[in-house]
Amino acid sequence: GDQINEEIVKHKSVSVLLLAGGKGKRMGANMPKQYLPLLGQPIALYSFYTFAQMIQVKEIIVVCDPSYRDIFQDVSHKINVDLKFALPGKERQDSVFNGLQSIDVNSELVCVHDSARPLVSAVDIRKVLSDGWQNGAAVLGVPVKATIKEANCESFVVKTLDRKTLWEMQTPQIIKPALLRKGFELVNREGLEVTDDVSIVEHLKHPVYITEGSYTNIKVTTPDDLLLAERILNINAE
Ligand code: CTP
Ligand code: MG
Repeated sequence: GDQINEEIVKHKSVSVLLLAGGKGKRMGANMPKQYLPLLGQPIALYSFYTFAQMIQVKEIIVVCDPSYRDIFQDVSHKINVDLKFALPGKERQDSVFNGLQSIDVNSELVCVHDSARPLVSAVDIRKVLSDGWQNGAAVLGVPVKATIKEANCESFVVKTLDRKTLWEMQTPQIIKPALLRKGFELVNREGLEVTDDVSIVEHLKHPVYITEGSYTNIKVTTPDDLLLAERILNINAE
């Protein structure tokens, strides 16, 4: 069961890349969304603390604009993992690439997480770490609840996709460092397009396991997501 699997991931073997290099255009706030307060605390600090409390985590590499480093540095005395910083890149993948250059040489798993997902639980992180360790690559996902249709440019339905086979991808996405490096080599050499971290591995034709996560692990993208995140936190606190 899960209990046994979880113990396979060694203590202090995981490098977390906490992605906080985006601009948050769709949020339209006066600062990048990951620094907006959620019940008084910057969004990015929620998952930062969740990872920092896990025995499997050795280090957190925050990929952020240098002007925001103090948000993390100022609370570093409260955590028991190494804190490093990397510079963001133009696209999300460039930020992942930059963060990857700073991981510890002995790191056995890379855990890429969107700082805009503050509500990820330690239970789900442990599950996806374990699946990543066993399979080389794993990602948290949830079954799609809606009916999804493919349309053409004129907004006419082309076909209805089979819901039973559809999963919405979340983060963390877990990849062994060597596999991620190899994936980046291929992607950069061939100029391939990638939308998430495990699709780099898909290009290598390496299997990616989907770990069933929680619908509450939302990505804060637009202003209504902030209200939703507040509601979920308040419900969890009750
Ligand atoms: N991200 C990053 N570097 C980039 C782009 C995105 O580190 N060049 C991070 C964001 O900070 C976020 C996560 O990747 O935590 C997911 O991206 P997204 O939700 O698209 O955030 P933004 O790009 O900031 O938002 P938007 O697309 O609305 O501008
Ligand atoms: Mg974006």
